[in-house]
Amino acid sequence: MDIRVLTPSDIPHVQSTNITNLPENYFLKYYLYHALSWPQLSYVAVDVCRPKKTPYDPPKIVGYVLAKMEEEPANGIPHGHITSLSVMRTHRRLGLAEKLMKQSQRAMVETYNAQYVSLHVRVSNVAALKLYRDTLGFEVEKVESKYYADGEDAYSMKMNLEFIKEQLEETYGKDEGEAVGEEGKENGKKDDEKKERKRKVKIGRGLGVGDLVEKNESKA
Ligand SMILES: CC(C)(COP(=O)(O)OP(=O)(O)OC[C@H]1O[C@@H](n2cnc3c(N)ncnc32)[C@H](O)[C@@H]1OP(=O)(O)O)[C@@H](O)C(=O)NCCC(=O)NCCS
Repeated sequence: MDIRVLTPSDIPHVQSTNITNLPENYFLKYYLYHALSWPQLSYVAVDVCRPKKTPYDPPKIVGYVLAKMEEEPANGIPHGHITSLSVMRTHRRLGLAEKLMKQSQRAMVETYNAQYVSLHVRVSNVAALKLYRDTLGFEVEKVESKYYADGEDAYSMKMNLEFIKEQLEETYGKDEGEAVGEEGKENGKKDDEKKERKRKVKIGRGLGVGDLVEKNESKA
């Protein structure tokens, strides 16, 4: 199974997966809007075990997560939103939804410095609720009455993403950008000193690459 970022050419297949699994469906251009505006946040699960019959066969997309950043957050805090998630019946309970969600959440933090992620789920959707609350750690913020077109209520859920930021900082260190002003000038001087201290090393032929050229060794 391959979990990779969604590309525009996947969209028709993602749309048909969505239509198969959920009553909330979208126009093709809405998927495209996600893919073009936040290309890092949506992922697909592709079953690569099933060989293609012809080179023109489309990828077998068995799950997807469609995600975005909230465009004008009322509270001013940058945060992500899960627009849609589903996995084909044939491929459920393999951990695909969990993986898709985690990939998207990480990208929200890495790319857009999202502080949290939000979503809506039907109050009757036991499987999704279990995934969000028990497996991933979402919390119910409120119930939105008659949120869905058929009149069903939705849980509005939220999950803090601060812990991903901490994990990233532990792994890669703090990314505070280039210092500016006086501090920046000081750092600039130090960089110049470092450059002067750099040792010159020989590269290419000087290192003996020439010796690797084939020679006629039959001659004495
Ligand atoms: C909800 C859905 C996306 C889960 O996909 P999935 O790939 O099967 O989920 P995962 O395998 O990643 O499950 C992770 C955990 O979620 C919970 N979970 C998933 N499906 C569950 C189910 N049917 N019943 C109870 N718990 C479930 C379990 O805790 C599971 O861990 P476990 O298998 O170790 O017990 C999938 O059932 C689906 O596509 N449903 C229809 C569409 C839908 O409801 N989408 C959500 C809209 S908000």
